Amino acid sequence: MLAKSFILSLACAALATAQSASLTASIEPAAATVATDATAADVPLFDVEAVQLTDDVVASIQEDPALAEYASLFEFEDSSNSTLSSRARRARRSFRCKTMPGDALYPSKTAWRIFDLLLGGALEKIVPIGSPCYKDSEYNNYDSAQCANLVQNVGSEKLYYDNNGALMNPLYYGMTCPIPASGDSASGTCTQGGYSEYAVKISNVAQIQLAVNIARTLNLRLVVRNTGHDYNGRSVGKGALSIWTHGLKDIKYVKNYKSSKYSGPVFKLGAGVQGFELYQAADKYGVSAVAGICPTVGVTGGYAAGGGHSPLMQLFGMGSDQVVALEVVLASGRFVTATPDINSDLYWAMLGGGGGTWGVVTSAVVKVHPKVPVTVSSWTLMTSESVTADKFWEAFKFFYDNFPTYNAAKTYSYFSVMKLAPGTYMWSMSPFFAPEMTVEEYEELVKPFYEKCASLGIELNASTTHYDSFYPAYAATFGTLNYYVGGAGAIPGNRLVPTENWADAAIRNQTFAAIQTAVENALMVSMYHQRPAEQQHKGINSVNPAFRNQESQMVFISPVAEQTAAGWKAANDNLATNVMGPIRAITPSGGAYGNEADISEPDWQQSFWGANYPRLQQIKKKYDPGMLFYVHHGVGTEGWTIDDGGIVGVQSTDGPLCRR
Ligand SMILES: Cc1cc2nc3c(=O)[nH]c(=O)nc-3n(C[C@H](O)[C@H](O)[C@H](O)COP(=O)(O)OP(=O)(O)OC[C@H]3O[C@@H](n4cnc5c(N)ncnc54)[C@H](O)[C@@H]3O)c2cc1C
Ligand SMILES: *[C@@H]1O[C@H](CO)[C@@H](O)[C@H](O)[C@H]1NC(C)=O
Ligand SMILES: *[C@@H]1O[C@H](CO)[C@@H](O)[C@H](O)[C@H]1NC(C)=O
Ligand SMILES: *[C@@H]1O[C@H](CO)[C@@H](O)[C@H](O)[C@H]1NC(C)=O
Repeated sequence: MLAKSFILSLACAALATAQSASLTASIEPAAATVATDATAADVPLFDVEAVQLTDDVVASIQEDPALAEYASLFEFEDSSNSTLSSRARRARRSFRCKTMPGDALYPSKTAWRIFDLLLGGALEKIVPIGSPCYKDSEYNNYDSAQCANLVQNVGSEKLYYDNNGALMNPLYYGMTCPIPASGDSASGTCTQGGYSEYAVKISNVAQIQLAVNIARTLNLRLVVRNTGHDYNGRSVGKGALSIWTHGLKDIKYVKNYKSSKYSGPVFKLGAGVQGFELYQAADKYGVSAVAGICPTVGVTGGYAAGGGHSPLMQLFGMGSDQVVALEVVLASGRFVTATPDINSDLYWAMLGGGGGTWGVVTSAVVKVHPKVPVTVSSWTLMTSESVTADKFWEAFKFFYDNFPTYNAAKTYSYFSVMKLAPGTYMWSMSPFFAPEMTVEEYEELVKPFYEKCASLGIELNASTTHYDSFYPAYAATFGTLNYYVGGAGAIPGNRLVPTENWADAAIRNQTFAAIQTAVENALMVSMYHQRPAEQQHKGINSVNPAFRNQESQMVFISPVAEQTAAGWKAANDNLATNVMGPIRAITPSGGAYGNEADISEPDWQQSFWGANYPRLQQIKKKYDPGMLFYVHHGVGTEGWTIDDGGIVGVQSTDGPLCRR
């Protein structure tokens, strides 16, 4: 279709002075609109995906005398008509560190301005969310009412996913501008820390391509961000340009999708769609779809890229298993399709191999499943005069021993176990999730456990309810949980515990003893009994094999006694040694979920990907040899490091990204 080219007046010769209003007034967005069926996938592009940076558009930038100085910044890597000299190219490649503000290659104010105009005005300066609390900062935006509001809503997810200067788990940007615990102002200073410098608020594919191209040609640090939920700060980076996909909210239902590996209904989802939006769409169409337990996690960003567990995984598979096609902007700047048949290596790698590593997803086509009825049950058991600690553990152990039975029955649960005080424990089931079961069928399944409780004199008082479809069952349980975010008072890690650990009474006892040790030394241990449905096509993606062989995912949270670098380091050491150490030792064939990982996970390549790692590394080299897409403990990042000077005692993003 027609390329919308630049209309530049000759008066723009004043580019050197840059401030020229006539220059900026005359630069049009660099984009062309292609046909929505210009895709190798079987579902047409969204309108926003049809707005692209084409070779013609790049050529028109290059032909514009007024833009001559900047033209080479936006060309594709494989540009046949590059205006970037090979000398410049080599120089850029040989830098040890990514370009930081202040470096010679870092874009000038004028270059940012021109970039913004080519983007159609989508460039934002990122301002730390906590900055209105600081009376004297470079942001000059102190506002006591706004600060009080932040303090009050510090645990609200919306605060974070709607603001590019925010991270759901804030420790990893370096805590250089924390929201105070109380009041309407903070003492101390507020600086950018590990938050990115600029964001492109994406509303079309051309903007992603422009951002990828300028980042590659100037050796900028680049990050991709969706909701900012990432546990390990992998959606921000000091000095970085951020591609923010949160606004890509399209959802389209397609009744009859057909490909070599899957036939049936699908949703095509924009990269910004969050769990609650997919669940609501599925409910509206009378079907089911797979997303996480937390309503606000993105679906096709980090979640589907990293594996994705779900209350429906035992019926339909992992989050990654849902995706039948992806539309992606690669490090080269090119926009491609990945399916089991097209760019199949990329498809394999991008579903399991982790977010922010392969390219920028703009949409994913995901499977849709039949409506399912669900029975849910919740209870809380606490030690008391009649429930001694021994009885408490005996009841819980009985339940725990039965995970394989519950998984075989295609159920799922999420619960936490805490030591409230020495000898005082609480087990909070929230909830046991039993799809395709009536209350009677569910009660039959857990009858031996109820009987065990009764024999110990424990009245469980479980609250059990049946719903005739997923969404109301979800909304009444997971949808109401408080997913506490905003603090930095805890450091998490996790383990995928394999079937082998239930093989006989001896190994069950030893594993359980490690869990008890963890409960003693942790703030909280959250557990899931979960096991994904068998894959229809073995090895179709790179999801951690440890997910396929698990009976439980366990999330361990280490308390932070003091919010200082020494305090965070001590909490991380406690996590490694006293909490997860025994569990890791007793689960040698287990692994860990990269999306909810300990920032200092040992032997992370094996933990997150097992036998899939070598092939992932090869594919990374093929698609991103220059490491444009870096994330902490991402595939192929062994040669890179962030030197943050130990600012928070654990690895943060608050330092330059350099080759080792
Ligand atoms: C409260 C809470 C509850 C959670 N519950 C669950 C759960 O039930 N099940 C589960 O599996 N996980 C869960 N998670 C973990 C979740 O899967 C990860 O945090 C995940 O990385 C979030 O992805 P996002 O895209 O929403 O977040 P972001 O932080 O924005 O991104 C995460 C990673 O994905 C990359 N990324 C984002 N968008 C794109 C894109 N368009 N293209 C390429 N890369 C991209 C980013 O670069 C980053 O590396 C939970 C997390 C939290 C904080
Ligand atoms: C290559 O770029 C030059 C300007 O730099 C232009 O004159 C020429 O037409 C371009 N050629 C192609 C094939 O795009
Ligand atoms: C269940 O309810 C009974 C009666 O109210 C109470 O005595 C008992 O402690 C409750 N059990 C639990 C586990 O809370
Ligand atoms: C496992 O532990 C239970 C109770 O703690 C005990 O009765 C049983 O003998 C143990 N079994 C083995 C094989 O260690």
